[in-house]
Amino acid sequence: MKIVILGGCGFIGSNIAIFLKKKLKNAKITSVDNFSRKGSRINYKRLVKNKINNINKDISKTNSLKKLGKVNIFIDCCSDPAIENSKKNMDDVIKNNFLTTLNTLNHSLKYNSSIIYLSTSRVYSIKKINNFVSKNKYKNKFNLRKEISENFNTSDIRSIYGLTKLFSEELIKEYSYLFNISYIINRCGVISGPWQFGKQEQGLFSFWMKNHIQKKKIKYIGYGGYGNQVRDVLHIDDLNELIYLQIKKIKKIKNITINVGGGIMNKISLIGLTKICEEITKNICKKEKIKETSNYDIPYYVSCIKKVKKIYRWKPKKNINQIMKDIYFWMIKNKKILKGF
Ligand SMILES: NC(=O)c1ccc[n+]([C@@H]2O[C@H](COP(=O)([O-])OP(=O)(O)OC[C@H]3O[C@@H](n4cnc5c(N)ncnc54)[C@H](O)[C@@H]3O)[C@@H](O)[C@H]2O)c1
Repeated sequence: MKIVILGGCGFIGSNIAIFLKKKLKNAKITSVDNFSRKGSRINYKRLVKNKINNINKDISKTNSLKKLGKVNIFIDCCSDPAIENSKKNMDDVIKNNFLTTLNTLNHSLKYNSSIIYLSTSRVYSIKKINNFVSKNKYKNKFNLRKEISENFNTSDIRSIYGLTKLFSEELIKEYSYLFNISYIINRCGVISGPWQFGKQEQGLFSFWMKNHIQKKKIKYIGYGGYGNQVRDVLHIDDLNELIYLQIKKIKKIKNITINVGGGIMNKISLIGLTKICEEITKNICKKEKIKETSNYDIPYYVSCIKKVKKIYRWKPKKNINQIMKDIYFWMIKNKKILKGF
């Protein structure tokens, strides 16, 4: 079986590639990545150590995948995933997030490849999320117990980033309908864990931990600057396990769209996250309140993971404390790497 990880030198792609290499002894695992994101070359070295080949190609270019020949399964982790960036560099975001999917699909129809697509919770409407949060009676959003399911509204504004991911989802479904391509769309919430470098623009949980380790000032940005925003988080190891199950069952379970995240058990506010980081690092950072809210921010997101749990008999094993400890120990071991971010 030939499995190709697109964006295999990114945070998620590299972790999945290495995990599958160890788990699926008879499969050939290959990555395609053009190192366009900071940190990709560091992950490339990890692939080399694990004897995984990377093909350095820009997947947004037509025929960039031609040399791969027959592929059984594509795992599409390739994108420009920074939401705020998508306000400024629209052309690049559309190229890297959407044209890459188009080219993957065109290759897939020649060889009847299946696609496991890493989508995002950001396909859901910003306005609709804001509406239900502002209606809730709790002052502190942390007490809200709402989970967002796959049926939530996707037809309003959701950021250029979210739009490109939704475009890709829809294109995958059209190709599946026309050419019988099997797909799984995973709408991921926040994923975190070792080898996420704590970049400001993407990867909140590692960014928070890195700031605590480096004793930098932390900023509560938006919604009055109180740090009440809430997210759920999933450990990369739990995602790896799920992708493995999806590969194993691809013939039986296919053509589905599912939310993938830590769920209600793994939700936390920014203030809560600060407390955990302080407990683990024993460092207390200066705090700054920035009242102004980005028009791409949302006050709350918690994935409803009932569907994925039921279909795959899978559930997240690592809670927030374990996730943050794993990130901490990895960062302490790799302080040199982090200096560059
Ligand atoms: N990390 C998260 O919390 C999260 C949450 C939801 C969804 N996702 C989705 O998961 C996927 C992976 O995210 P990540 O955090 O690993 O991102 P990442 O930035 O770490 O990895 C993306 C990789 O894609 C490569 N890439 C981008 N454009 C390319 C192109 N045109 N040709 C070849 N390679 C290209 C980059 O070099 C990079 O190595 C993305 O599709 C993202 O939308 C991630």
